[in-house]
Amino acid sequence: MKKLLYQFDTDPLPSLFDNVVGYDGGADHISAYGGLHSANVGPLVEGAIFTRASKDKKNTAIFIGGGSVAQGEALLDAVLAKFFAQFRVSVMFNCNGCNTTAAAAVACLAHGRSLAGKRAVVLAGSGPVGQRAAVLLAREGAQVAITGRKLAVVEAARDSIKARFAVDVTAIEAPSGPERAAAIEGAQVVLAAGAAGITLLDAAQWQNSAALELLADANASPPAGVEGVGMSDRGAASHGKLLFGPLSFGALKLSVHRACIARLFGQNDLVLDVNEIYGVAKALVT
Ligand SMILES: NC(=O)c1ccc[n+]([C@@H]2O[C@H](COP(=O)([O-])OP(=O)(O)OC[C@H]3O[C@@H](n4cnc5c(N)ncnc54)[C@H](OP(=O)(O)O)[C@@H]3O)[C@@H](O)[C@H]2O)c1
Repeated sequence: MKKLLYQFDTDPLPSLFDNVVGYDGGADHISAYGGLHSANVGPLVEGAIFTRASKDKKNTAIFIGGGSVAQGEALLDAVLAKFFAQFRVSVMFNCNGCNTTAAAAVACLAHGRSLAGKRAVVLAGSGPVGQRAAVLLAREGAQVAITGRKLAVVEAARDSIKARFAVDVTAIEAPSGPERAAAIEGAQVVLAAGAAGITLLDAAQWQNSAALELLADANASPPAGVEGVGMSDRGAASHGKLLFGPLSFGALKLSVHRACIARLFGQNDLVLDVNEIYGVAKALVT
């Protein structure tokens, strides 16, 4: 029986990246749908859950992607609401790579050490990757703050994190470099999760921080999100801190994504969201 993956995307054009990784994760065939939302996804879900016998439903799975986490979450909720009794298939949620990227970054930061009780700041933590990373850092026991350029935006992200995951983070308005440098004062862990090609911190702004122990940058598009962090740094020591660059956890992120796709076809009742995907990252990180 063929392993069928249904790629549900909130964007008009479904993600090609998610399509390729879907095949590399083990799907035999992928049907990609764009422009989906809670009001039009119902018939597609019915097609997925009513077509195969219970013992065969594990060979059908759904992947939810797209550029907007909020829209994707609404789509996920609509998909799950259609399931009942044995009429369900496994689902993975990874809008904009939010869960796999955040899981890989935090798994690298937490590998071989405890983050419990540490102060962690996610710079530009209002975005998809930053929000999920904030959740995971908090789950590791850190006291987490997220920054953004506008207080209203970063507070909305904080409220969304609280509503969906029951996790408390602090919202900090930090529109430019000096405010971001002030925001990381006293933090032991900093993860930069800004938009591609945006530099959030100059080298001097982190090199002089006495408290800082672990510094990671998710941005893989030059210039670096944090000046002085190398693309492939994997715990490289500099100025008394350990540095993690985007390519060092990018490979793990892809492995996690593939492994999660493979898991979807192992049973018909999985919902792989941030916590489950983090579990996969923790198992794979070396
Ligand atoms: N290493 C990997 O394997 C990997 C995989 C996927 C993604 N990524 C990278 O991870 C990063 C985060 O991804 P994402 O999808 O969450 O990013 P995103 O949504 O594009 O941007 C994240 C945040 O950056 C802030 N931002 C945007 N423009 C800015 C500017 N000019 N100055 C300062 N801040 C700005 C915004 O926050 P405010 O508006 O609140 O300031 C936004 O919420 C990106 O760099 C992405 O390329 C890496």
